[in-house]
Amino acid sequence: MEKTFAIIKPDAFAAGNAGKILQRIYSEGFKVIGLKKLFLSKVEAEGFYYVHKDRPFFDELTDFMSSGPCIVMVLEAENGIKKWRDLMGATNPAEAAEGTLRKEFGSSVGENATHGSDAQETAAFEVSYFFSGLELL
Ligand code: RTP
Ligand code: MG
Repeated sequence: MEKTFAIIKPDAFAAGNAGKILQRIYSEGFKVIGLKKLFLSKVEAEGFYYVHKDRPFFDELTDFMSSGPCIVMVLEAENGIKKWRDLMGATNPAEAAEGTLRKEFGSSVGENATHGSDAQETAAFEVSYFFSGLELL
């Protein structure tokens, strides 16, 4: 079993899609190990996305991620990192496959409904950024 870190981003939360996304998470066979609603500050969003700090979209991305509440989660499944990225679909919802979360709930490359870790090292950083061990029992 492998843990990954996931976010239901502010666009999806504000649109009332958190329940439908959670339903997909369970029906696809993930275990939800940790879950909480947060309203990130700009600084907290910048710390989370620091790997992208030199990218042209960094300011837009961190403004968006601090624009409203989101749900942060730790998910677990066999091959969980890839499994969750496959369920999310391509970063740009316009390029995401039918049946993926970003296809169904995303509206643009910026407002693309969900986040998922891209490797084991980033998953470890991202889980520990938001959750203590006690929150993952
Ligand atoms: P994420 O980290 O959110 O799961 O998305 P990802 O791996 O599919 O994409 P990544 O390259 O890590 O980019 C992080 C987030 O930045 C926004 N983005 N905007 N305007 C743009 O060209 C652009 N490119 C990326 C997206 O919201 C993406 O999810
Ligand atoms: Mg990424």
